[in-house]
Order: sequence, then C-alpha cells, then structure tokens
Amino acid sequence: MDVEKIRADIPALQQKFNGKPVIYFDNACMSLRPRQMVEAMDEYYYKYPGCAGRSIHKFGTMVTDKYDAARKRMAKFIGAKDEREIVFTRNTTEGINIVAQSFGLQKGDAVITSDREHNSNLLPWQVLAKRAGIEHSIVYSNESDGTFDLGEFERRVKMLGDRLKLVSVVHTSNLDGYTLPAKEIIDISHSAGALVMLDGAQSVPHKRIDVRKLDADFLAFSGHKMMGPSGIGVLYGKYEQLDKLQPFLVGGDTVQDTTYDTCIFLHPPERFEAGLQNYAGAIGLAAAADYLDGHGFDEAEKHEIELNRVITDGISGIKGLTILGPQDPKLRSGVISFNIEGMFPHDIAIMLDDTANIMIRSGAHCVHSWFNAHVIRGSARASLYMYNTKDEASTFVEKLKEIAKLA
Ligand code: ALA
Repeated sequence: MDVEKIRADIPALQQKFNGKPVIYFDNACMSLRPRQMVEAMDEYYYKYPGCAGRSIHKFGTMVTDKYDAARKRMAKFIGAKDEREIVFTRNTTEGINIVAQSFGLQKGDAVITSDREHNSNLLPWQVLAKRAGIEHSIVYSNESDGTFDLGEFERRVKMLGDRLKLVSVVHTSNLDGYTLPAKEIIDISHSAGALVMLDGAQSVPHKRIDVRKLDADFLAFSGHKMMGPSGIGVLYGKYEQLDKLQPFLVGGDTVQDTTYDTCIFLHPPERFEAGLQNYAGAIGLAAAADYLDGHGFDEAEKHEIELNRVITDGISGIKGLTILGPQDPKLRSGVISFNIEGMFPHDIAIMLDDTANIMIRSGAHCVHSWFNAHVIRGSARASLYMYNTKDEASTFVEKLKEIAKLA
C-alpha cells in the first residue's frame, strides 16, 4: 500500500489552514475522497445524465449499463454470489430500516441486538417494539473489557426459542472500533433458525468482508465511509431472503404492472429501489471500490492498527486519560475513543482543530444509549483510514499531551 500515492489523489489533503496541513482523523464519520471517484460521478453528469431502466435512448442505455455494472462491482466487493443481492440505498440506516419494516415481524416475535448499537440499529427495533409489540432483546457486553458476551448471547438465543426471528448487530462498533465475533453470532443464530443482519458501516470500509464465508443474511453499509459518495449505500441480502421481504417504500420502478387497485411487484433488487435512483452515487461507489482494491485495500486494516498502536502507546501515559473498549489496539481497528478527566470531549476536539488542524469527532457518536447506560457524557474519538500516516499519529500524540496539561 503506497500511502503517499493515495494522499496525492485526495484534494482535501492538499489544503493548508494557518500554514499547517490537515490531519484528518474523523474517518468513522466520513472518509475523504480521491479524484478518481469524483471524476466517475462527473462523467455521469457530463456524458450520460439519463434514467436507468426506463428510457430507451442512448443516454438511458448508457446509464443503465453503468448502473448494472456498479451493482455487479459491489457484489464482487463483498463476495456476494449474485448482483441481484445488491440493493442500492441512501445509506446504512436506510438498509436497516428496509429490513426492519419489510421482514413481517409480528407481535411476540423477538429481535436481538447488542448494547452498543448505533441509533440506526436501535431505533428501528425500539419503534417496532412500541408500535407492533415485538420483543427487542439486548445482549450486554462483558463488563470487564467491553467485548461481546457470546455465552450470554447463546443463552438468550435458547431462551427465546422459535420466537427469535432476527439478530441485528453492529459488525465493527463506531463507539470504540471493537469488532464483534460475527461468524460465531451467525452460526449460533442459524442453528436456532434465526437470520442475521450486520451493520457493516464501520467494517466494510476497513476490512475484506466476504458475505458468503460469513454466511450473513443481510449486510448494510454506506458509501461515504469508504471513499465513495454521500447519499449512497448498499443493502446486501441473500436472494432467497430478499425475495421474501415485502417492500415498505413503494412507487416508480418497483412494479411490473398496476391497475387502479392492484400491482405486481418486481423481483429484488428493483422491488426495493423506489423512484428515481442516485445513479451518480452508485457509479461513484463502484469507482470507490475500484480505488480501494487498486490501492492495497487488503493491507488497510493492518496499517490502521499499527497507527492505532502508535497513538495508544503515545497517549497512555497522559494523566486521567481513559480509552473506551478493549485496551489492545489490535481489537479496536483504527479507532481511539477516549476521555481526559476534567476536560469536555468537545473542548479537546476544538483545541486539536484550532491548534493543529487535527480533525476528530466528539460527543456520543449516535450511540447515546451506551453512554447513558454507562453514565458517561461522551468521548473524543480519533478514527483512522488507509491514507493516515505515522507522522500524523505522532503529531496527534504530541498535541494531545500539550492539551491535557490544561486539564
Ligand atoms: N456514525 C457516524 C460516526 O460515528 C456518523 O461518526
């Protein structure tokens, strides 16, 4: 992986503020984008700005070919066997909501999540519990180190028996970077007859995911965290599972035919893509997958963990500093979520930005439920990607040490 080559492709990194370069450590929220991805989107707007699957003229045909190719590309990126298993969405949140609303869950059916879900994988079940009477069962992490409690999970699965229909868990947590044992969770769930959906927002951009090896039933992820455009995402589903879902967003291009009081829905994936789609987004997302694969994606996670180690070792001596989640950086991918006693996370983030253009995120990271349960107001969070460097990690350590003296 040639980090300098990747950096040279990213216009946002060529800027300086107050004469200093940008150190971008907010990748769990939003990644930076290479020129090649933006150019692929521009090409749609400049050369074939048509509607896929509708008009039969040249622009319509060209965009249909590109949109179909983008679907194939994303199927390949996650190891899906068939491009019909790729539904284009706006983002991870929409993918999870499609499954929640289309699964046909009835009163008394149960869904398991973990205690560290992003609001996007908490609220759909909370709402269904209130409106439809489903049971939303939460498996709490091991208290000692915040890892997933597989033993408790297995007990819960047995206890719920055939009422358990779906397990929907985050794959890699945006809270602290911890990756849940997805394969074990899937195997246990399947042996009890339940399906599994993974929230892959933080895993798909950073590690090679093979949905067939994992045997995941559903996987949702977003473009903006993997050097792709904002406003585009993917819901993967095994074809036979997608085919059982009844769409909740309905309209143009989801049906074969209608009368005034009947309709015949199309098969997946079109059944779930209502209305005119984000063609430039899908094309840009495929370009992002090309970019990642063409620039050493398989080494990304190792690189991010190495930088995480530099930061973790460097800041561990700071008085009053605590790191959320497992202490070993190997278990936290590229995420360092921390607090310094006597300082507000937002103040840390503002000072890093003001003094050294170091951009991190602060707050509850859309996992308010976890922070409320632990009576912690939030955290400061640095999150890394394949274009970050050791020098940037060292500058971060030095600046944080200076800032911590103000506590
Ligand atoms: N969920 C994203 C984050 O953690 C937005 O920053």
